[in-house]
Amino acid sequence: MKAISVKEASCLKGTIAIQGSKNTVLPIIAATILTSGISVIYNCPDIIDVHVMCELLNCLNIRTCYKEHTLTIDTNDAAYNSLPYELTGRLRSSVLMLGAMLARWGRAEIGMPGGCTIGTRPIDIHLEGFSKMNVDIEEYGDCLRCKTFYMQGCDFVLRYPSVGATENLLLAACGAKGRTVLRGAAKEPEIIELCNYLVSLGILIDGIGTDVLVIKGTGCIGCSDYVNVYDRIVAGTYLLMSCGIPADIRLTGIDEIHYIRNVLRVCAGLGLNVVRLEHYLHIQSSGIVCPGDFATGIYPEFPTDLLPMLITVLTKAMGESSVTETVFENRFAVVSELRRLGARVNVNGNRVYIDGNDKLTGHTVKATDLRQGAAMVTAGLMASGYTTITDTSFIQRGYEDIVGDLKGVGAVLEYI
Ligand code: UD1
Repeated sequence: MKAISVKEASCLKGTIAIQGSKNTVLPIIAATILTSGISVIYNCPDIIDVHVMCELLNCLNIRTCYKEHTLTIDTNDAAYNSLPYELTGRLRSSVLMLGAMLARWGRAEIGMPGGCTIGTRPIDIHLEGFSKMNVDIEEYGDCLRCKTFYMQGCDFVLRYPSVGATENLLLAACGAKGRTVLRGAAKEPEIIELCNYLVSLGILIDGIGTDVLVIKGTGCIGCSDYVNVYDRIVAGTYLLMSCGIPADIRLTGIDEIHYIRNVLRVCAGLGLNVVRLEHYLHIQSSGIVCPGDFATGIYPEFPTDLLPMLITVLTKAMGESSVTETVFENRFAVVSELRRLGARVNVNGNRVYIDGNDKLTGHTVKATDLRQGAAMVTAGLMASGYTTITDTSFIQRGYEDIVGDLKGVGAVLEYI
């Protein structure tokens, strides 16, 4: 496990190019299992989760070649195989192999998914939906065995708009006989991108962008290339970071501002000035943070992934703030680590209270998951002296080069 040493930053100035989206590209990679031929994915981020997903495809005799943000996937010789827990347990999106493999082969035997430890993260909604499609499911140890002789389209109500379950059921529905209706589906941008990609493969989907998706499976699925969108959470990371540190930054690569409107609204309330220009967002801040009461929520509300960043920045606010988490039950690992840096932060139920007016002091803290890790880097930039963040391989699961990005805007930090 690597560590990062971060020096307090007096200001951030320069340009950051926002990488391609992790949470969009992983389901698209899973979707290529449905195809026969060669697909090219452009703007694919160079992150651990993408490479593990490729290893999973390789287990199915699908060839992958990653070069300079372009991922080529050749499914011509795809062949059924089981997927070991040693790989599936390394990321959450491995669970999407289930839907895609069921659609292609009518069976899937895979290890349980992993991912960030931010709650129990059950997959009961995914499995309920598969059962409704006539899939037999057996759990044994760390593995799942799913099988169907005839996958049947169905009318299924998701009791919570789970992003992963919506993606998994969309993928499975592509191989089901007849029509599948998903009610109460998630509406996140990642779902819209996946639907559009599936449509480009020849699948018929109605209701894209709404919470009722109607999918008409087809036996004949073509190939299609995909240009990945920017990562709205990485963009949000740098936007929030710029609230807590005096900044004059250009963010490039943000073509569709719509996806981050919720984050921009919160950042404006915190004191960030954002101007949209033709090829970039120009963001400026004095580093003075206004307090407030915030809540995370399903899209288009403020994303849960950015909760650790928001709490970190609010330690500096000129007064008391609170943030309520409504999506995951345990996304508060950031709190204990911020306390090590001197922050006065408390958790009560699903709400975090931040006293504000704190000047953080450099210390050694731990990255415990992907987004909390990015928040720790931010805390290090805000804290006096030097901060060491350990276990930073969590961060590399989703941020291509956080150290390089921040060096590019004048921050002093390095891997040690
Ligand atoms: C995805 C994102 C993650 C983001 C989250 C919510 C990926 C790889 N990850 O995670 O970054 O924070 O969406 O936007 O895309 N739930 C159940 N049963 C289920 C499935 C989910 O109870 O079968 C619950 C979860 O425990 C959680 C809530 O639903 O409390 C949301 O989970 P979900 O939307 O499924 O998130 P992920 O797809 O895991």
